[in-house]
Amino acid sequence: MGRSLIIIGNWKMHKTLQEAEQFVRDFLKKVPSCEIEVGLAVPFTALAALSLLTESFLKIGAQDVSQHNEGAYTGEISGAMLRDAGASFTLVGHSERRRYHQEGAKVIAHKVRAALSQGLRVVLCVGETEQEHFLGETEKVLEEQLLQGLKEIKEEEVSSLVIAYEPVWAIGTGRAAMPEEAQRAHSFCRSVIEKKYGKGVAMRLSILYGGSVSDKNIQELLKKPDIDGALVGGASLNVESFVTIVNLSGEINL
Ligand code: PGA
Repeated sequence: MGRSLIIIGNWKMHKTLQEAEQFVRDFLKKVPSCEIEVGLAVPFTALAALSLLTESFLKIGAQDVSQHNEGAYTGEISGAMLRDAGASFTLVGHSERRRYHQEGAKVIAHKVRAALSQGLRVVLCVGETEQEHFLGETEKVLEEQLLQGLKEIKEEEVSSLVIAYEPVWAIGTGRAAMPEEAQRAHSFCRSVIEKKYGKGVAMRLSILYGGSVSDKNIQELLKKPDIDGALVGGASLNVESFVTIVNLSGEINL
């Protein structure tokens, strides 16, 4: 199928600079090289230092980016600043940004645009809430979030994009989606991309699953044809468990 397998840890608001550096040193001792792509979405304050420590297979990225490129936006961090600090990618539209920071469709679309134009890879996060899930609205929500997030994105830019399907009800709850259920959602996301950009683009796009990924469920998830990796929150904070997830993913990739 030719899509690369990608495992990204999302640290959220965890780790001081010293803790972050220790993690990366320990991780690289245990995993000095790797066939799959590994990323860490870290707090802004750790970006510059960590990007000096990494190896080619381990990418350092941000968890958010400003929709603006420059100006009087107190507290914001632009895509150019992220690049300057050594980030190679950024998450956009994580459900915690949508929920706690009221990020709507327009802002997210502008963030995707801003990050891509600064040369960052973008991991666009989409996913339905528990209520939407029970109301049977998953596909409607995914289609809306994908089409709105990619509104300004041209076909040739999709090669710098990764989608993360993260059902909100599965994040941090210990209740991951069942592999079949996640596969259905991933396949649906791919069909939305196919409708907008064509089959070739859709088949090359990596779609990650996120929401209570652990060493217990990673392999079953990755065995599904449309699940190309994972966005790992809680289980990426501990170096042992993240190493295990990366190693188990490497086995599936063989
Ligand atoms: P979780 O978080 O693995 O702790 O559920 C995933 C995420 O929010 O990206």
